[in-house]
Amino acid sequence: MKQQFVTFFTSLLLAINVCCGEDKDPQVFSTNECQLTEPIYGQKFDFNSLHSDIAKVAKSAKGDTFEYNICGNLGRTCDGKNVAACLRRGDQEFVLGTHHVLNYRHGKMFLEFSNGAKCPNGDGDLKLFVHLGCDYTLDAQQSSVTPYAANACSFYILLETPYACLPEPDAVKSNGCSIQDPVNGHNYDLLSLSDFNYRATDRRGNAFVVNICKPVLYGENVMCPSDSSVCFIQLNSTDYKKRFFNYGTVQPNPTIENGNLIMRLPSPTPCNGTSNYSSTIHFMCDDEKKSSKLSFLGVNECVYEFSFTTPLACNDNPPCTTITHGSEFLDMRSLQGKTYELSMPTKNYTLGICSNAGQPCMANDAGFRLSVKCSPLNIIQVGICPAGKHNIPSHFRFCAVIVVVTTK
Ligand SMILES: *[C@@H]1O[C@H](CO)[C@@H](O)[C@H](O)[C@H]1NC(C)=O
Ligand SMILES: *[C@@H]1O[C@H](CO)[C@@H](O)[C@H](O)[C@H]1NC(C)=O
Ligand SMILES: *[C@@H]1O[C@H](CO)[C@@H](O)[C@H](O)[C@H]1NC(C)=O
Ligand SMILES: *[C@@H]1O[C@H](CO)[C@@H](O)[C@H](O)[C@H]1NC(C)=O
Repeated sequence: MKQQFVTFFTSLLLAINVCCGEDKDPQVFSTNECQLTEPIYGQKFDFNSLHSDIAKVAKSAKGDTFEYNICGNLGRTCDGKNVAACLRRGDQEFVLGTHHVLNYRHGKMFLEFSNGAKCPNGDGDLKLFVHLGCDYTLDAQQSSVTPYAANACSFYILLETPYACLPEPDAVKSNGCSIQDPVNGHNYDLLSLSDFNYRATDRRGNAFVVNICKPVLYGENVMCPSDSSVCFIQLNSTDYKKRFFNYGTVQPNPTIENGNLIMRLPSPTPCNGTSNYSSTIHFMCDDEKKSSKLSFLGVNECVYEFSFTTPLACNDNPPCTTITHGSEFLDMRSLQGKTYELSMPTKNYTLGICSNAGQPCMANDAGFRLSVKCSPLNIIQVGICPAGKHNIPSHFRFCAVIVVVTTK
């Protein structure tokens, strides 16, 4: 039975190859350039901006240092040569590649470096793969090395970048994704949930991919419309253009209704002639403080209901503490009550941590926006002046940490 199936499958593949020799899968291609046009929406992903004069650096858990550049060579030599990727291990240097190709595989985009040095532990060459993952919010750590065996010849790095994302709708550019409970003053801040997509099934064999606070992150087999936060995937559809549907357009903030934290997401996708599809996400406090979880509750005509359990929906965290992107509990109570100066070329900022900055932020507007560039991490974030707020807006977390480091 199994044997028969395999034979049938092989001949089917042969048949396809014979009949459509020229017709390649449009979802699989490679280019020597630093940009590509994805085949579903015709959107261009341009990675040229990721090139920098100083290379990107990532350290592995084993202590090896990986240096690579995108669309060009490293600023300094590796084993005496000008190359694009280098492995530094102790005082040894190994060329990982002199150039790269950019590959697209069903939504997955990765750079494959080639022409590396001979692998000391094997027959082939050393190789580096850099997976370009969509991330709308810049994190301190942008490159991470996948753990590998001591004798590995191939290495994998994940580089998270907004350049691997579809364009972000204006409504959610630098959104805070927070809301203050009018009853107890608690500030719910959900933005850090946007680092991941969450999945659920509709119990009929189809899938939902959901992002909270940002559009669904583009990636392998997740090529959702650019403004959708709730994406319905018709898994039995072989036509990629009829596989991903917007069932909920991204919203900048959650809302509070009758004391409950929820997000309502309308969509432009027609449902039954009179209504469009829409989704409602009910946020539930997770007392166990474990990871966040999405569940599909059910559908009522055109309205899909989900629950989302997360510690960020709890309102009993002590003031001046927060949960970080890595679900780590960050306690900044010891920094309270002081002000910190942040000197920038054109402006000086005064920052209060979990308190206001000591004087009115701006005469009559406590909600003005400012751009803060935090060197040396090179993170550009837009934040809201924290006057009067008693929680740290997430945009300030990295800046706040840098300020602490420089005043010590
Ligand atoms: C896919 O599944 C839906 C039900 O979820 C069904 O209505 C549709 O006919 C199926 N399409 C194909 C091509 O099998
Ligand atoms: C449904 O979405 C379309 C956009 O595709 C919009 O023009 C229309 O007003 C929406 N209908 C309803 C009932 O919200
Ligand atoms: C379409 O769906 C809406 C909302 O779920 C419902 O109120 C309406 O009665 C439905 N209309 C038809 C024609 O089924
Ligand atoms: C910022 O503060 C420094 C000293 O603390 C001062 O020399 C500089 O002129 C200030 N810059 C601006 C733009 O106010």
